[in-house]
Amino acid sequence: MNSSSQPQLTRNSDRHRGFGTLTEWHTSPFGLEGKSAEFFFRITVYQDGIIRVQASRFESFESNPYSVVGTPEQVDFSLTEKGGLVTLTTPSMSITLDLANFNLSFFDLAGNLLNKDDSLGTAWIGTEVTTYKQVQPGERFIGLGEKTGPLNRLGYAYTNWNTDYFAYGIGDDPLYMSIPFYMGIHDRGAYGIFFDNTHKTAFNFGASTNRFVYFSAEDGDLDYYFIHQPSVSEIISSYTWLTGRMQMPPKWALGFQQCRYSYYPDSEVYTVAQTFRDKNMPADVIYLDIHHMEGYKVFTFDGEKFKDPKAMIARLKEQGFKVVVIMDPGIKTQKGYLPFEEGLEKDLFVKYPDGITYEAQVWPGWCAFPDFTKAETRAWWAEKMAFYTEAGVDGFWTDMNEPASWGQFTPNLIEFDYEGEKASHRKARNSYGMQMARSAQEGSTVQNPNKRPFVLTRSGFAGIQRFAAAWTGDNVATEAHMLAGIRLVNSLGLSGVPFAGYDVGGFAGEATKSLFARWMSIAAFAPFYRAHSMINSNDSEPWAFGEEVEEISRNYMKLRYRLLPTLYSKFYSSSLSGLPLAESLAVQYPNDPKIFLSAFQNQYLFCDSFLVAPVESTTAITKVYLPAGEWYYLYADKIYAGDQTIYQDCPLNYLPVYVKAGQVFAMQSDVEHSADAHDRILRIHVYKGSTGSEYLHYEDAGDGLEYLEGGFMKRLIRYDPRSESLHFSASNGNYPSDFSSLRIYFHGFGLNSVLLSGNEIRLQTEDYGFLGKLTEFDPLPEQDHPYFDIKNLYYLEMDHSLDAFEIKGLK
Ligand code: NOJ
Repeated sequence: MNSSSQPQLTRNSDRHRGFGTLTEWHTSPFGLEGKSAEFFFRITVYQDGIIRVQASRFESFESNPYSVVGTPEQVDFSLTEKGGLVTLTTPSMSITLDLANFNLSFFDLAGNLLNKDDSLGTAWIGTEVTTYKQVQPGERFIGLGEKTGPLNRLGYAYTNWNTDYFAYGIGDDPLYMSIPFYMGIHDRGAYGIFFDNTHKTAFNFGASTNRFVYFSAEDGDLDYYFIHQPSVSEIISSYTWLTGRMQMPPKWALGFQQCRYSYYPDSEVYTVAQTFRDKNMPADVIYLDIHHMEGYKVFTFDGEKFKDPKAMIARLKEQGFKVVVIMDPGIKTQKGYLPFEEGLEKDLFVKYPDGITYEAQVWPGWCAFPDFTKAETRAWWAEKMAFYTEAGVDGFWTDMNEPASWGQFTPNLIEFDYEGEKASHRKARNSYGMQMARSAQEGSTVQNPNKRPFVLTRSGFAGIQRFAAAWTGDNVATEAHMLAGIRLVNSLGLSGVPFAGYDVGGFAGEATKSLFARWMSIAAFAPFYRAHSMINSNDSEPWAFGEEVEEISRNYMKLRYRLLPTLYSKFYSSSLSGLPLAESLAVQYPNDPKIFLSAFQNQYLFCDSFLVAPVESTTAITKVYLPAGEWYYLYADKIYAGDQTIYQDCPLNYLPVYVKAGQVFAMQSDVEHSADAHDRILRIHVYKGSTGSEYLHYEDAGDGLEYLEGGFMKRLIRYDPRSESLHFSASNGNYPSDFSSLRIYFHGFGLNSVLLSGNEIRLQTEDYGFLGKLTEFDPLPEQDHPYFDIKNLYYLEMDHSLDAFEIKGLK
């Protein structure tokens, strides 16, 4: 940093200081740069549709080393100057800069105003930097990652400061993870703003002011990326081009996962695992929470509770279970405890400025904190993880990595390496959790180079999706929390983190029977599907709430597993596009005001095909808003026109779910876990619609990295209503499909035969149920709880040809 260019600070400097008139500006190969009497700026055309704006008190700009991975691309642009305004035009948008005050306005190519600074523009109060923006007519704001509150954030304000927040309220802020990225949507278009500053930041969308919205940081530069694309989904894709995308997880991580604070001893773990199998409830993962350790010391097993962890894990594997262990950052400062001794010796811990190791209390007592912003620390931690992988552990859960400590008030002076740059807690805190997750991912790869890592993290920052899945921390067993969790996950999806979920059943408190059942069914449509509950709470496994809940849970768990071919394919697509798996309706229907209403804001599209309308367990009939298009009620194939509100019966066993007309998805037969053998019949479901769709079907070995070198099978399946055809492209890749035959179900069509290679084929029929028969627990007459199955559903059964072919005559 060039301190000579630091302005003279006076007592008055705690007042608003605007950027001021530009005294100098010039073009650069990537855009333009210049200064005012006090401040410096740089505008970079980063990629088509992405413009980076930097402003600083210093001549040299600061960058966050962790979030952005997309490197600038040469984009053609032109510059003109007229009447004190400089206009920079790129192939997809233009931006004007007011030379009098550094005010910026962003336009689409047609000249429509997308976003404009308030006349206060960019300004400082002391070290705090803020950009004030006008609100466009009808503008709504979405995103900002793991934030409570409504889908439309207009009128609300948020702080980004990673915080351990046990049993948070559904309007509380900040929580564990910060993603300073939001989108503005209005009639003239949509844009995204990623404010890449890791200090404590504030985003105010009009709370306590009617003048502007703003984002500000306590310190550091004003450094934001303005993203404009024609659609919300393309904005998310651009944002994830910038900050990276989820890696393809192992298939088992898409299965049901059972957690508990904590299962012990080993015999309890066996019992839980065995019960899933005995009760015919598919599941893939069991977690070991903090009681697996001796005195909560990471990289230890409690030898009393777990006499032979390796044997235990091997036995669980035989039953098709993977084990995920928790890792907390705090290292007990105990003489003789090797990780502590090594960390001291190798200088791997966070320290006070005078070099003394910083200690705070967490589960093990007084702890030192590995400095994950240092490459050596990450590598050391990755090496230590051999302790777990040698025992057969497959996945890692990085918890308490905000970092959390008792007292909840980390002193700001402590120092982090920050990739050699050195930073105080003020700048490093929000990055810490993400760097721990990164280290865990590294460790998993170092220890098991041929396996895909699975890391679940509580804390993170923009870009966390590259390293880990996320869950929403210590929620509470209430109906409102169940619904709030859906908004948190959907908001994470808008903010680049597709692989996310919540503790099913609620971590704190006791779920009622009905709440647990509903939560299990909703979460079957969540990207990450895990039940968890806290110490000293009642048993909370899906069989712990009585027969009815058990049956409902089983049904939705099985549905989830039958949907695995679709889920896995969509995870693959999301790893390429960065798009959400649980997608707020704001992505595809951004200009439909109804989707933002509190009654409908929790609805979302899961895996493109399924409109999920979450509803409290205490509600037996609910309003559902069906956006434009046509929709099939999943369980009965009843067709509804879109753009209307319907009343839907929603007894506990039927979560309102609709299939979008024109969609195609794939299913398999029931399995016990994700690697269990199915019947090798791939069921393709096609829903008649006036617009068609493309489903990219994807398969590979489910783990390992061969898929990066051709070890996959993928093909596009395209339904085209105009030519009344279903086209299967030739499959790509050299993974032999897991399926030997195809069964294609035709929903909503009025046909009993189709054409295959010009030959008319008569279809077969079947009464089809997406859920198994649900027992009548209620003594009400049968017609009050009808068993919905789809009568006489037509289907075609054929060999699974990997060549291109087409089925015609879909009337
Ligand atoms: C806090 C986590 O949020 C929770 O999920 C976990 O069970 C406890 N820490 C104990 O490790």
